[in-house]
Amino acid sequence: MITKTVQNAINEQINKELYSSYLYLSMAAYFEDKNLPGFANWMYVQAEEERGHGMKLFEHLLERSGKVELKPIAGPQTTWNTSLEVFKHVQEHEAAVTASINTLYELALKEKDYPFQVALQWFISEQVEEEKNAAEIVQQLELIDAKGTAVLMLDHQLGKRGKV
Ligand SMILES: [Fe+2]
Ligand SMILES: [Fe+2]
Repeated sequence: MITKTVQNAINEQINKELYSSYLYLSMAAYFEDKNLPGFANWMYVQAEEERGHGMKLFEHLLERSGKVELKPIAGPQTTWNTSLEVFKHVQEHEAAVTASINTLYELALKEKDYPFQVALQWFISEQVEEEKNAAEIVQQLELIDAKGTAVLMLDHQLGKRGKV
């Protein structure tokens, strides 16, 4: 049986993952508005992934006869000054999510919830990947420093995400 404490913590994390999806969708809208469809594509893929993270936790709760309690999703930021600012925001947001996953893992240890520990291992590896991806794009944008041609090249590259 899942404890009430773990159940509440999982419901909180579902909300954070769905908020992440909402935030990245807002960033996609920002890039569409700036006519950068490749950047927008990257954000659409990211938003879908975050919904998937929420669903993994949703399913984990159900598999263990826990109760899913969906909470209201806060409205995300809708505007940024530059593409670099957007990706710095992604980087900060992912660092906060990593901290939240780590706290969940500590809770799973404390509560001796072994199945949740196993489920969280996937999230721990995923956060390494998420932080790496964000850092890479931040660094590339810092190199570009608003040079139009290079931004368009990066837009083309990010447009390929999720399309094999
Ligand atoms: Fe996530
Ligand atoms: Fe993420």
